[in-house]
Amino acid sequence: MNNVSLHSCLYSFQPPPKSTTTANHRHMMSPMTLLLTLLLLHHLPPCPAAPGHWSLLHQTIGISAMHMQLLPNDRVVIFDRTDFGPSNISLPDKKCRSDPNDMALKLDCTAHSVEYDVSSNTIRPLMVLTDVWCSSGALTPDGSLVQTGGFNDGDHVVRVYKSCDECDWREIDSGLIERRWYATSHILPDGRQIIIGGRRQYNFEFYPKRSPAEKSQSLPFLVETYDQQIENNLYPFVFLHTDGNLFIFANNRAILYDYSKNVVVKAYPEVPGGDPRNYPSTGSAVLLPMRIVQGVVAVVEVLVCGGAPKGAHINAKNGKFDGALDSCGRIKISDPDPKWVMETMPMGRVMGDMLLLPNSNVLIINGGSSGTAGWEYGRNPVLKPVIYKPDDPIGSRFEVQNPSTIPRMYHSAVVLVRDGRVLVGGSNPHERYNFTNVLYPTELSLEAFSPSYLDVSASVFRPKILSLATRIQYGKRVDIRFKVQSQVDTNLIYVTMVAPSFNTHSFSMNQRLLVLDGGNMTTKIAGDTNYKVGVTAPPSCNVAPEGYYLLFVVHRDIPSEGVWVHVE
Ligand SMILES: *[C@@H]1O[C@H](CO)[C@@H](O)[C@H](O)[C@H]1NC(C)=O
Ligand SMILES: *[C@@H]1O[C@H](CO)[C@@H](O)[C@H](O)[C@H]1NC(C)=O
Ligand SMILES: *[C@@H]1O[C@H](CO)[C@@H](O)[C@H](O)[C@H]1NC(C)=O
Repeated sequence: MNNVSLHSCLYSFQPPPKSTTTANHRHMMSPMTLLLTLLLLHHLPPCPAAPGHWSLLHQTIGISAMHMQLLPNDRVVIFDRTDFGPSNISLPDKKCRSDPNDMALKLDCTAHSVEYDVSSNTIRPLMVLTDVWCSSGALTPDGSLVQTGGFNDGDHVVRVYKSCDECDWREIDSGLIERRWYATSHILPDGRQIIIGGRRQYNFEFYPKRSPAEKSQSLPFLVETYDQQIENNLYPFVFLHTDGNLFIFANNRAILYDYSKNVVVKAYPEVPGGDPRNYPSTGSAVLLPMRIVQGVVAVVEVLVCGGAPKGAHINAKNGKFDGALDSCGRIKISDPDPKWVMETMPMGRVMGDMLLLPNSNVLIINGGSSGTAGWEYGRNPVLKPVIYKPDDPIGSRFEVQNPSTIPRMYHSAVVLVRDGRVLVGGSNPHERYNFTNVLYPTELSLEAFSPSYLDVSASVFRPKILSLATRIQYGKRVDIRFKVQSQVDTNLIYVTMVAPSFNTHSFSMNQRLLVLDGGNMTTKIAGDTNYKVGVTAPPSCNVAPEGYYLLFVVHRDIPSEGVWVHVE
């Protein structure tokens, strides 16, 4: 057994602004609207067969959403690539970017990054100077986005974005030791981040560095899983295990890695079938919800779904588009003798995204049903998302959702927002912004998928958080007051915390969801509708690295709006 307290929370960051209450606004229905709604409900045809619904937020946000990150002020920073030619949104104040290294435009007066404000549904253009294409990132404990690498003049650059009304990107030119293009970042228990791999990089490094002399360190696993012809191990799936080690999945297998000693702690078996799951065979993966009971997460599980079969990328290059994988592998990474348990999705999917919903379900969304990732190599969009219910019996966990009408192929992205909706954007399977004479033209729209927990019929059961202290300390009690219109079944209350993730290329880096201990101890406090519950904060920075999380009270699998909390 390895040392449980491997890494301690050493770094000290600026505390967030003080805030103790959380009267998050919800739109109240006027009596007239209510009447209209009731009338409409009365006259509407019966509910559609499949759950969930879609809405178009913007026909164009000006850029294709290749990378997305939700920030703790409910804004989403979005960026694609700087050398795509002119985008559909101008830089503010007639600014232009002059870049002799740019491969499309030396003088570019359009933006390739924007900030989307969820509450006002508005867009603000941002200026990124060097190429951020196919990069990675993570939120620091103080809520800034640290984005790492990219292409061309951007491949060694670290960029920091701290959101405010006038804020813009700040770039650190030689922030990285190696070039990082298609690498994966993960936040560490001490607040630094690790950046793993990337094209022709079989190593990792940290940001920030502890000393200027710090070197990158080799990771032979990335050589072992590298396919000479087609790579298949880019954007590895990386998760912080609760013992402080990193679970790293590349191609068709995984290791548990102690990055402080450069030791493989455990080698997991190959996924049955042996098909690759990472770029360009792009499947996706999540660390399944972690239930904390008396300070311990007894079982830690990973789910990997979809991708493209072995050989599919070469076939796609030759005009043959193989059907995507419809299999998922689930493994208890905490088990002494872990084995993959295979499950079958309702349909195959390559370039799908897997997103943890606040009620502990997994949303599988976007992508295609044949071909692979890469320019022009995907076919047959899968428009229907699927929800996976990890706690249901095997064989009945998948539920097909209502379809979108917009294909979301290579370079599409998703992100969960505080009200429980999922933002969906991007799709640019071509070089440049190309809207004509191509299959799946560049997509500038932004949509929202609302899982069925946001249906009007769910509102009587939906908790509304009234108060809670938003700075929460490891292992300490967190008292939450909330309100529910209907009678509450206290056995069906639980409290979850979701880390905001950095999404690109079908993977959400840093994504984790914790089910807090004590959610079932809810009691009524006043009148008919007010309740209180005392839960216990996560035990350590290995279980929940310091930083911002969205906290939800869930009743009958229907989550409240989230409230931002800072774990410290
Ligand atoms: C964006 O596209 C719209 C519609 O095609 C066009 O009217 C507008 O001029 C474009 N804006 C920029 C900055 O390219
Ligand atoms: C879009 O793709 C078509 C077909 O390959 C090509 O003819 C055209 O030049 C491209 N447009 C741009 C703006 O790159
Ligand atoms: C609440 O759940 C814990 C396990 O998480 C269990 O030990 C306890 O008995 C439950 N309490 C109630 C009131 O159901």
